[in-house]
Amino acid sequence: MSHDLVSPIRLVVLISGNGSNLQAIIDDITNNNLPAKIVAVISNKADAYGLERAKKAGIEQRVLSHKDFSNRNQYDLALKELIDGYQPDLIILAGFMRILSNEFVEHYLHKMMNIHPSLLPKYKGLNTHQRALDAGDKEHGCSVHFVTPELDDGPVILQATVEIKENDTAESLAARVHEQEHRIYPQAIRMFAEKK
Ligand code: GRF
Repeated sequence: MSHDLVSPIRLVVLISGNGSNLQAIIDDITNNNLPAKIVAVISNKADAYGLERAKKAGIEQRVLSHKDFSNRNQYDLALKELIDGYQPDLIILAGFMRILSNEFVEHYLHKMMNIHPSLLPKYKGLNTHQRALDAGDKEHGCSVHFVTPELDDGPVILQATVEIKENDTAESLAARVHEQEHRIYPQAIRMFAEKK
């Protein structure tokens, strides 16, 4: 399908930190005509570098600190209201380091994607690169998946594989996995946009 025929979908991107995946999506929109518009970047941390990236790209940035709320449900309710104000077609979790309540996830079922640094269903949770090394795996990678109430679960949309080298450290491996994340996340968004 020609991309010119696909109308841009509205994305809200949630981050907590560096935002290199956010940058990859911004760049794909600019350079490769990804049919999407990032209508807001929301961070739970005021010092997330990804907010700078959004600012540089002229994208609206919002901070909703979890420290201002007494419990998860209240935070998630406020987050939901903030997100829905932008009327997004798709919510993108890009290093958003919070566990989400079931109610929140159900509200965005089939409308929220995450990227996880492992070949799911392997290594859900944290320290995935070290865990793959410790297990003596020959390959590792990353997965884009739809978010369901179980942590790092839900239907996989795309995966990329990275070969583990003998002298790899968690850092060297993470760097190569990141390169693949930056390739497949925009691709998964494109697939979603073109199916709409
Ligand atoms: C990525 O490794 C992603 O897989 C995980 O969080 C990290 C975010 O990195 N969910 P960045 O903020 O996009 O640079």
